[in-house]
Amino acid sequence: MLYAGKGGVGKTCVAGATGIITARTGLKTLVMSLDPAHSLSDAFDLDRSLMDKNRGQPIQAGDNLWVQELDVHEEINNYWSEVHSYISLLLNTSGIDDVLAEELAVLPGMEELSALLYINKYVRDQLYDVIVLDCAPTAESIRFISMPTALEWYMKKVFRLERKIFGYVRPVARRMVDIPLPEDDYFANIENLYTRLKGVDQLLTDPETTSVRLVTNPEKMVLRETQRAFMFFSLHHTCIDAIIINRVFPSGLDEGYLKVWGNNQQKYLDLAETYFSPLPIFKAPLYDSEILGYKKLLEFGENLYQGQDPTQIFFKQKPYQFAKMDGQSVVKLHLPFVTKKDIDLSKIGDELIIKIGNFKKNIVLPRAYAVLEPRKARLEDDYLLIEFGGSSE
Ligand SMILES: Nc1ncnc2c1ncn2[C@@H]1O[C@H](COP(=O)(O)OP(=O)(O)OP(=O)(O)O)[C@@H](O)[C@H]1O
Ligand SMILES: [Mg+2]
Repeated sequence: MLYAGKGGVGKTCVAGATGIITARTGLKTLVMSLDPAHSLSDAFDLDRSLMDKNRGQPIQAGDNLWVQELDVHEEINNYWSEVHSYISLLLNTSGIDDVLAEELAVLPGMEELSALLYINKYVRDQLYDVIVLDCAPTAESIRFISMPTALEWYMKKVFRLERKIFGYVRPVARRMVDIPLPEDDYFANIENLYTRLKGVDQLLTDPETTSVRLVTNPEKMVLRETQRAFMFFSLHHTCIDAIIINRVFPSGLDEGYLKVWGNNQQKYLDLAETYFSPLPIFKAPLYDSEILGYKKLLEFGENLYQGQDPTQIFFKQKPYQFAKMDGQSVVKLHLPFVTKKDIDLSKIGDELIIKIGNFKKNIVLPRAYAVLEPRKARLEDDYLLIEFGGSSE
């Protein structure tokens, strides 16, 4: 289960509370924080010194319940040494001092990759019954979910070529340029990582295994970001099965200031209903203080799920399909909240490239589509239908 949403909406509280509830039903549960600015241990009010001693590893937070905050520097020591040392060497050569080079060599996406490695391992080894992911704010969680596809693409299209080229040019280039070239270890390291990530893509996109829940608040800007997140997660074949609206004012507020806020919220709650239906919407009330510690989180979770089991799949829908419609080959994407003017389609080789705003998605097409060209796109209900026809020659 993956809980994502805009900064500060309550993802950590929802993820923590969900973990507590599943652990209490006897399921061995891990709540993992993907956010480099961790706050999971704070929400659980865990002992800092214990966290520091077990840096980056799961620690027990209750019966059947573990909490893990990834530590990207630890991960680099474990898995990324070659890649990391090559990049810091490169930065060093370009005149940046050691410490800064070390810091800069933490590439964007490393947290996400480390998390994927862990998840894949935990699932393979069947270590936990439930893994709850507390995501970083939306942009990073989109990167997290795109990572396997991006990596697959890189390995197929770039990596093999790069390795080959370096194999040829290294002896010559050594004599000609000052920049260090990656050693074979660097490539071996990446290849090893890639192997260990095998299958994680299927895991994340299998609706029976992974559910994404978007956490939001009844406010205009937050809802807007939730709609965008919805579209991006759909693009990445993940199954969003519920929306969680947090910080809802209790009803029946008195006159005045809070009443105005309350009415405003009601407007956005209604709007959320029209945006996200038929997905179920769960609501959590605004508390009079922060939600800290096991007991508070449990109470929050009970309020949120109202007796429903959070491990169930609340909604099933395929984000995209390849289909034949009236004899035409069609790519059918479930893309709510998109308007036609936003969409830009192109095809290069066997890839369909869909651009929406400044977001881009490459879909590798099956052979039958790859020889055709995207001809027409139309929106029908919440689906984007891209018709393929003719031949690309
Ligand atoms: N319903 C609520 N009532 C009162 N306080 C809340 C509620 N939900 C969350 N909070 C508080 O708001 C703060 C932010 O919540 P939380 O850390 O869960 O958000 P987040 O989405 O994980 O934030 P970030 O994007 O920074 O990781 C915390 O102090 C939390 O205790
Ligand atoms: Mg958080």
